[in-house]
Amino acid sequence: MTIVILHSEDALGPPADPVLAQIAGALERAGHEAAFQVVLPDVVALATALRGAEPELVVNLAEAFDGKSALESNVAALLNLLDLRYTGSSPAGLMLAGDKALSKKVLSFHGVRSPQFATVHRGDVEWAGDLTFPLIVKPPQEDASIGITHASVVNNVQELLEQMGEVQGRFHQPPLVEQFIDGREFYVGVIGNADARALPPLEMDFTDFPTDRPRIASWAAKWGEQGAERVPSTRARALSCRRIWLPSSMSNCGRRRSTPSARSASATMHASTCA
Ligand SMILES: Nc1ncnc2c1ncn2[C@@H]1O[C@H](COP(=O)(O)OP(=O)(O)O)[C@@H](O)[C@H]1O
Ligand SMILES: [Mg+2]
Repeated sequence: MTIVILHSEDALGPPADPVLAQIAGALERAGHEAAFQVVLPDVVALATALRGAEPELVVNLAEAFDGKSALESNVAALLNLLDLRYTGSSPAGLMLAGDKALSKKVLSFHGVRSPQFATVHRGDVEWAGDLTFPLIVKPPQEDASIGITHASVVNNVQELLEQMGEVQGRFHQPPLVEQFIDGREFYVGVIGNADARALPPLEMDFTDFPTDRPRIASWAAKWGEQGAERVPSTRARALSCRRIWLPSSMSNCGRRRSTPSARSASATMHASTCA
């Protein structure tokens, strides 16, 4: 089978994402022909390149279009329009998972609790739950902790307003204000659709974190190496497997994280695309 591995430009690094070579190697070992295609920032050029490659399957690793993760679902939509078979979520699944506020509303419909929240759109309060400080302010349509710093955790109205302004100004997205849940942080990979299976959970290890910083996987904690925001990198360790629930709208390919609270049984969960 001719298979195109479609990936974002930043996967080329440095450092290069090892997943690219791992998938190509696995496909070749299984007797397939693997080729790479970067998500070109020109949609017409991208469509032409994909058509020209005549793939029987596309492994869709694209997490953004033109560097914008908010446009991620459009890459899958383009594959639909080109009538190409691809791995991963449909545009609808990606759009749902790519919007934290929307995901929280869907989870709530299914009776799955996530932290209390408020959303504000152009100065209008869209929804405000029963919130108390500390809170965390996030851009709802980003991932990889983009826009999350230690200052995202706010303890008073002044900090809250500053962070809301920061998210609105930098990302042009209605800020998502969430109850800050202090506690341990787990990541759970899920495989399968109808009979989804949870992989062994991983726990973030904040042991080396500075005590004056909120224990969150900020952008600096995940990716930063230098500068004022520098914090020791976080580590994850494996735990024993637990049961997991997967809504049908998040089938195909997704990642979910749960953060059980030390104070309550509520959990924060979100889904995003994964390679
Ligand atoms: N409600 C919350 N309570 C406590 N920590 C949070 C909360 N929301 C986010 N965080 C922290 O911020 C990190 C990034 O937030 P997350 O919602 O997972 O965004 P992303 O999609 O960018 O990973 C999380 O891994 C966690 O450490
Ligand atoms: Mg996350």
